[in-house]
Order: sequence, then C-alpha cells, then structure tokens
Amino acid sequence: MRIAIASASGQLARATAKYLLEKVSPDDVVLVTRNVDALAEFADAGATVRYGDYDRPESLPAAFEKVDRLLLVSLHELGHRVTQHRNAIDASAAAGVRHIVYTSYIMAEPGCPSTVVPDHLRTHELLDASGLEVTYLRMGLFAETPVTQILPPAIARGMLVDNTAHAKGAFVHRDDCAAAAAAVLASSGHEGRTYDVTGPELLGFDDLTTLAAGISGRPVGYLSVADDELDAQLRAAGVPDDVRGMIVSFGVSLRAGYGEPLSDAVQRLTGRPARPITDLMERHRGLLAGS
Ligand SMILES: NC(=O)c1ccc[n+]([C@@H]2O[C@H](COP(=O)([O-])OP(=O)(O)OC[C@H]3O[C@@H](n4cnc5c(N)ncnc54)[C@H](OP(=O)(O)O)[C@@H]3O)[C@@H](O)[C@H]2O)c1
Repeated sequence: MRIAIASASGQLARATAKYLLEKVSPDDVVLVTRNVDALAEFADAGATVRYGDYDRPESLPAAFEKVDRLLLVSLHELGHRVTQHRNAIDASAAAGVRHIVYTSYIMAEPGCPSTVVPDHLRTHELLDASGLEVTYLRMGLFAETPVTQILPPAIARGMLVDNTAHAKGAFVHRDDCAAAAAAVLASSGHEGRTYDVTGPELLGFDDLTTLAAGISGRPVGYLSVADDELDAQLRAAGVPDDVRGMIVSFGVSLRAGYGEPLSDAVQRLTGRPARPITDLMERHRGLLAGS
C-alpha cells in the first residue's frame, strides 16, 4: 500500500507525515509538494518526495504514479481551490489512486452561511462523482487560530470583539487532526466513512478570553456586536472584503450551531484523547502574555 500526502510542506500535512512515518515503512510514503527542498528531512528518512502542483495538472501524473491512497488537504484560496481540488481528483483517478482521504470542515453542511463552506461542498460532489473510495475528515475549528492569531492582539487591546454571541465550538489542535489523518491513512476500513475530528469540549470566545486571561496573567474582556457593526469595524481596520466576509460569516455560522458537533474520533482513531485548548495556550503563554 503506497500512501501519498499532497501539499506536504503545509503544517497539517507535514505533521501528518511525521505521524504516518511512525506507523508505516518510509518505502510506502510519498510526499507531494511544490517545494521539494522543504521536505529534505523526510527524504533523508527514506520517504519519496515528488514535485506536484494542483495549478500545473501536467505535474500530477508523475506525482501520483503508483499511489494507492492519497491525503488531499483542502487548500486556502476561496473559489479557485475547487479547480485545484478538481485537478487533484482527476489526476488521482487517472493515475490509479483507489482511495482519497479529504480534509473537509466541521461546518461543511448545506445551508451553512460560512463563506468557506461552498468550496468544501463542491469538492464533496467532485469526490462523490469520482468513482474513488473516499473518507471525509471533517476537521473542527483549529485551536491555533484563536490561540496564535485572535487572542494575542485582543489581549494587547484588552478586549476581544466579535459577533459570535457566546456561541460554542469544539476547538481542536491541528496536531490532533494530523494524528487522526495518519491513523486513517495507515489502516484500512475507513473507505466510505466520515469522521468529525473535534476537540474535547465546547467553548465560546468568551470562554477563551477567560482561559487566556488566566494563563497569560493579563485581563481581557469580551464583547459581541451585531454583524454589520463587526463588518464596519473590520472595514475601517482595512481588512480585505473576502477576509471580512469569512470572519463575519464564521460568527453567523457559529451562532447557528455549525461549530457544535463534538466527537471522540481523535480518541477512537489515535488511541489517545483530543487535547484541550488550554494545552496550546500554555505552549503559547509568552505570545499571549505579550512577552
Ligand atoms: N478547520 C479549521 O479551522 C481550518 C483553519 C485553517 C485552515 N484550514 C484548512 O486546512 C488546510 C491546511 O491547513 P494548514 O495550516 O496546514 O495550511 P498551510 O500550512 O498554509 O499549508 C497549505 C499548503 O497548501 C499547499 N498548496 C498551496 N497551493 C498549492 C497548489 N497550487 N498545489 C498543491 N498544493 C498547494 C502548500 O503545500 P506545498 O507548498 O507543499 O505544495 C501549502 O503548504 C488549509 O488549507 C485550509 O483549507 C482549516
């Protein structure tokens, strides 16, 4: 069984590769990337590293040659990523890949207003129509986003302002998502299945400020405002349209309950429980404390 991880120099993919190499022989691992040099440590460990770019479909037949199972990590660029995912799926089918494991999103439900969701749903359609075996890993809200991007500036200002109105989500460590993905890649029986890969508890951004204040030793308040008010604040701060739309629609979606699925998939797949977000806050205590 030859297993490929594409977009392999990314954070989720790279962590998945590390876990995978603890489980299977490096002879069975292919890492596909636009940046072969960035994966020298994996080549040194015996994995095969190949060039592949979803925007250059002509690069993909060689990248996916003799691969049985592929981790398709969802890309970033809204709208365009559907074309990128399609190129990867088409090339996989043509190359003889039998099984794709796709990193979807916990909010990927019809009707969810989050602007990142339509691309996932379109990718699901492409995968379902591909004739390949598929496993969906519906990744929860990465805990890294609030801990390293949202909370530090909020703590510096003394206030976190959003539109989530105490709604909750099951924040999950990206590394736990990687461990779960590696477990699925390394074993059989996951074809046709969907897993919600979430953290261990439901927390709101108000809870996060309380936890972060305790760990950083710096007080931070929480204020939820109306959607149009948040949008106006973000616009005044120069946040680009697409990012603003993503942030505001995330809050609307969280309030509608789309962040609430809670599962024990990390424990079931990896044999150890999902880690709480406070672990990550402890690890980034200096960042949160502004030191
Ligand atoms: N659930 C959540 O809360 C949440 C939060 C943030 C992101 N996400 C999703 O999770 C994904 C992985 O996150 P991450 O933190 O690992 O992202 P990341 O570190 O930014 O990695 C993204 C990777 O995308 C790959 N890529 C970009 N353009 C490509 C192309 N044309 N062809 C092939 N690969 C391309 C690159 O891999 P190479 O350079 O190796 O080619 C890049 O390293 C994101 O892309 C996003 O869809 C989810």
